[in-house]
Amino acid sequence: MARTNTMKAALTLFAVACVAASGGCRGERSNKPPRQILPDMDDQPKYKAQTASHFFKEFEDAESGEMYGRSMRQPVAGTVPFGHYAEIGASDGFDFDATREGITKEDARFYEGKNADGSWVKYIPATVDAEFIALGRENFGIYCLPCHGALGDGAGTVGIRWSYALPSWHQDQYRHGGEKGDDGYIFSVIRHGVPNPGGAYPLKMPTYAAKVSERESWAIVAYLRVLQAAHESNINDLPDRDRADLLRQLNQGGTPAANTGNES
Ligand code: HEC
Repeated sequence: MARTNTMKAALTLFAVACVAASGGCRGERSNKPPRQILPDMDDQPKYKAQTASHFFKEFEDAESGEMYGRSMRQPVAGTVPFGHYAEIGASDGFDFDATREGITKEDARFYEGKNADGSWVKYIPATVDAEFIALGRENFGIYCLPCHGALGDGAGTVGIRWSYALPSWHQDQYRHGGEKGDDGYIFSVIRHGVPNPGGAYPLKMPTYAAKVSERESWAIVAYLRVLQAAHESNINDLPDRDRADLLRQLNQGGTPAANTGNES
């Protein structure tokens, strides 16, 4: 309470002083520099975008003969602007890989799905574990399922209405050993989409490079393999305990709680 009163008194005093000193604070014109009551951070020496700098001496001012330069600088030749790229990734909400590898992307196997000789990488160049597959499943559900369907058969709700026919991933050509069966090829389809030469639209399938990172793309490939494996297997492939669980759930007339890939 005492504190509030002191504050009030101080403010009143200030207002009176203000009026007394200048004949008014608001709406009055003055040629004097503005009063700075608490000047703590009012004046900050810094460069703003598109302004001149007198630290760099690149150009000569025609009138004054003074040397000046640009305040906005190009990155030093041969360097990668690390922080800059990390900022882009974070602000766009991307899963941005701000490591040296993630920026230079020199590892063509991981970042392009290609071997040194230009052939497709046969198997996912990352550790595939349950967590990785879960990541793939999540991203598949967001970006692929609407067209390709929960089972990967091409019968998604958007897919059946899409301008171009969708294939089923259960065709032999998409399995390992098939014409389009290398993991690197599937990866590249996610990164670049499917071209539509001479068509009304440049792509039959859009690219997802701006939506998922390379790591997430490989994870989607892993989940696509899970869908294929599930399609090819039957209940006898399950371990005894899981089979018993599944049969019990089915006999109770319910939907199996295990992953049916069908919960959308
Ligand atoms: C907007 C609809 C749509 C979405 C979403 C979509 N695709 Fe496709 N996809 C297509 C169409 C259409 C084709 C067939 C193009 C063609 O005629 O070869 C296709 C084909 C493919 C093929 C086979 C390519 C080939 O050369 O035969 C793969 C693999 C594939 N998609 C993966 C994916 C993955 C993975 C995702 C999710 C990241 C995805 N697609 C999302 C529409 C879509």
